[in-house]
Amino acid sequence: MAVDLLLGLQWGDEGKGKIVDVLTKDYDIIARFQGGPNAGHTLEFDGIKHVLHTIPSGIFHKNALNIVGNGVVIDPVIFRKELDNLEKFRIDIGSRLFISRKAHLILPTHRLLDAASEASKGKAKIGSTLKGIGPTYMDKTGRNGMRIGDLELANWKEKYRALADKHEAMIDFYDVEIQYDLKELEDEFMSAIRELMKLRFIDSEEYIYQARKEGKKILAEGAQGSLLDIDFGTYPYVTSSNTTAAGACTGLGVAPGAIGRVFGIFKAYATRVGSGPFPTELFDKDGATMGRVGNEFGATTGRPRRCGWLDLVALKYAVQINGVTELMMMKGDVLSGFKKIKVCTAYSYKGKTIRHLPFNIEAENVTPIYTEMQGWAKDLTKMSKAEELPGTLNDYIDFLEGELEVPIKIVSVGPDRTQTIHR
Ligand code: GDP
Ligand code: IMO
Ligand code: MG
Repeated sequence: MAVDLLLGLQWGDEGKGKIVDVLTKDYDIIARFQGGPNAGHTLEFDGIKHVLHTIPSGIFHKNALNIVGNGVVIDPVIFRKELDNLEKFRIDIGSRLFISRKAHLILPTHRLLDAASEASKGKAKIGSTLKGIGPTYMDKTGRNGMRIGDLELANWKEKYRALADKHEAMIDFYDVEIQYDLKELEDEFMSAIRELMKLRFIDSEEYIYQARKEGKKILAEGAQGSLLDIDFGTYPYVTSSNTTAAGACTGLGVAPGAIGRVFGIFKAYATRVGSGPFPTELFDKDGATMGRVGNEFGATTGRPRRCGWLDLVALKYAVQINGVTELMMMKGDVLSGFKKIKVCTAYSYKGKTIRHLPFNIEAENVTPIYTEMQGWAKDLTKMSKAEELPGTLNDYIDFLEGELEVPIKIVSVGPDRTQTIHR
């Protein structure tokens, strides 16, 4: 059985959590493959809104097992808070959530290092979520990290101490003002580790291999978005993992040939939270309207998201790198009432018109070239069938499908599970 993938194609927050929740009824296993608590995946059903950071978005379904894969970085403190939030829903976590032994641990000092690194960058800061993601992946690739499986070894506390001491020296090196009480942070960490250890740790690559052999259907859930990918994103304003399709192979131990469908999620417009280039960003009332109607505030940090028109040059690039087989367009409802809708179809770059993403997309290098489309006035949020969608929205969808050469199979018209139109 192939493993299907679900990925964000922009700068994150496309609506991955919602769609994973919608699709979970068709899968036996939902597996997160990268990122960590920098992610905030929102699900809404029965009038309740849930935000997940590390736990896969299939957790509310009885039929599915959820796996936190080896490519993920886990902060036990945040993980415990997520578990606490789920407590009232009486989910049998022990049988529904397994963790890879090869996933790396975010230490309290990783978070402090993230803060020190950002503070030292001044205006050039990445706009990190300050969850310790960068420093943890640095320790992973630097071959110093601590893994979930280490917790099963007798000497893990010694390993922890050596690494945390090293981090403290590194924090001093940054020579910036950050206040912290490491003792307090460590107490919280150790107590969270004890909770974490009640869960089942597995060799997830082997587990997934066997599950595939048994014909189990697996959906790999991505975090962040393709333009935040460490290799292909808007470097250095990116996260520290491979958010693109290849990340699912390394983040779960699934061979490339075993990947089946690749679902690419995008918003009908574009948003970005944190620093970095965003060619189609709007600073006018249209951008403010998108932010207000779309409730564009970060699910993890609460920061307002920057908003702008859909960038097809960037979206095509993401479709290409991921080998997207089906697209899902989110938040079309937010654009209801815009008389005209713009789509960036090319960039003006050094006096030329180009249709690919150049090395550097800083505002001074690229100017978006727009195609203007008619908007739609109707409220979409109560619609449930493709036939109900307004003509000008269908024109928008047809235009995007033509440009991207991939079908748009889902049109999402609101945050709730039920506000999902299949085409
Ligand atoms: P993720 O990180 O990709 O899972 O996305 P987030 O949860 O961070 O951000 C998406 C936000 O949009 C959440 O608040 C969702 O509840 C909301 N959302 C998802 N789909 C739709 C939609 O079609 N319309 C509207 N209005 N909101 C949506
Ligand atoms: P989901 O999974 C949106 C952004 C941060 C920052 C940059 C680096 O909810 O789509 P990091 O904390 O990784 O060092 O931050 O990446 N970022 C996200 N933006 N959605 C996310 O996740 C993000 N995770 C990280 O804002 O610009
Ligand atoms: Mg999010």
